[in-house]
Amino acid sequence: MTAPLHNEQFRLAARPVGLPKPGDWQLTSAPLREIADGEIVVKTLYLSLDPAMRGWMNEGKSYIRPVAIGEVMRAGGVGVVVASRSPRFAVGAQLAGGIGVQRYWVGAADDKSAAFVQIDTRMAPLTTWLNTLGMPGMTAYFGLLDVGQPKAGETVVVSGAAGAVGQTVGQVARLLGCRVVGIAGGKDKCDFVVNELGFDACIDYKNGNVRDGLKQHCPNGVDVYFDNVGGDILDTVLTRINMKARIVICGAISQYNNTSAVKGPANYLSLLVNRARMEGMVVFDYAARYQEAVAALANWLQAGSMKSREDVVDGLERFPDALLMLFEGKNFGKLVLKVADA
Ligand SMILES: NC(=O)c1ccc[n+]([C@@H]2O[C@H](COP(=O)([O-])OP(=O)(O)OC[C@H]3O[C@@H](n4cnc5c(N)ncnc54)[C@H](OP(=O)(O)O)[C@@H]3O)[C@@H](O)[C@H]2O)c1
Repeated sequence: MTAPLHNEQFRLAARPVGLPKPGDWQLTSAPLREIADGEIVVKTLYLSLDPAMRGWMNEGKSYIRPVAIGEVMRAGGVGVVVASRSPRFAVGAQLAGGIGVQRYWVGAADDKSAAFVQIDTRMAPLTTWLNTLGMPGMTAYFGLLDVGQPKAGETVVVSGAAGAVGQTVGQVARLLGCRVVGIAGGKDKCDFVVNELGFDACIDYKNGNVRDGLKQHCPNGVDVYFDNVGGDILDTVLTRINMKARIVICGAISQYNNTSAVKGPANYLSLLVNRARMEGMVVFDYAARYQEAVAALANWLQAGSMKSREDVVDGLERFPDALLMLFEGKNFGKLVLKVADA
């Protein structure tokens, strides 16, 4: 008789005020239960750490229900099926879906909240399925194309440029023939997006003035601004937009840990003057079209016209600290947590 597999799970212990603290988490450990007909066990290989996780920890109405106190923290991830009593997924199948911050996921193979799909690592490595071919890539693709609607020759500005969503936004805009200007924190990230990803320019907001940078690098103004950060940077870009500009509200990471009110854009009348629009987007609205984006992005990756950079932190136990890297700009590329060897 073999010993039962043991699960370790990070549960939400308290709703954070400001940045999440170690005491906001509880690490629990228990043997895995036996599975019933229709169920599978997925061993977690890599977890996606996302800025959105901070929002899911808050109480209140949003586009998705909050994680409950005592519940396993929600997280996307990739894993491998290690036990199956379902015809849907065989042992050995590699899946992407809502695994949660835990070593094993157990439940019905067709569970709606996990929404597992089989992935093909001949197309791209596992971690790329959490980045360009995963949720951030879908966000970049549909946010830019559907909401930003860039045209060749236009100027596209993207903040969080070296991050998961930003890197793909900028590269897709470049492939469409746009002038692409990134905004990122630090010389290394700016060098990367220009030299490795082919952006036309990058503004280092930590060591320079964003307004001056926009004047210099966007001589024809800004047609599309893909906003990942909100706050002062959004306000500054608003002063440089063109007639009929499109601003994609993808995220506002500068505001997620505020203990006071979110800082809204003071310069919003620029939208009036320029007959411009600002529109929010949530990636899950595009779920029925993910295959379209995966096909396009995988083609570009395989042709070598696009890159996917991930930043891997090793060890489930490092989850609480690793999550904070996002809010300190310490991740360089899509942040993933390695939980086990493939
Ligand atoms: N709407 C949707 O459906 C959807 C889906 C996915 C993601 N998002 C949003 O997209 C944004 C980017 O997510 P991601 O997964 O790609 O993360 P990411 O860019 O890989 O990582 C977060 C980055 O944000 C930057 N940052 C942190 N604090 C900042 C601050 N105070 N001011 C300016 N920049 C700051 C840091 O980069 P620097 O070092 O450059 O500062 C950090 O590396 C987030 O706002 C996220 O919530 C939205």
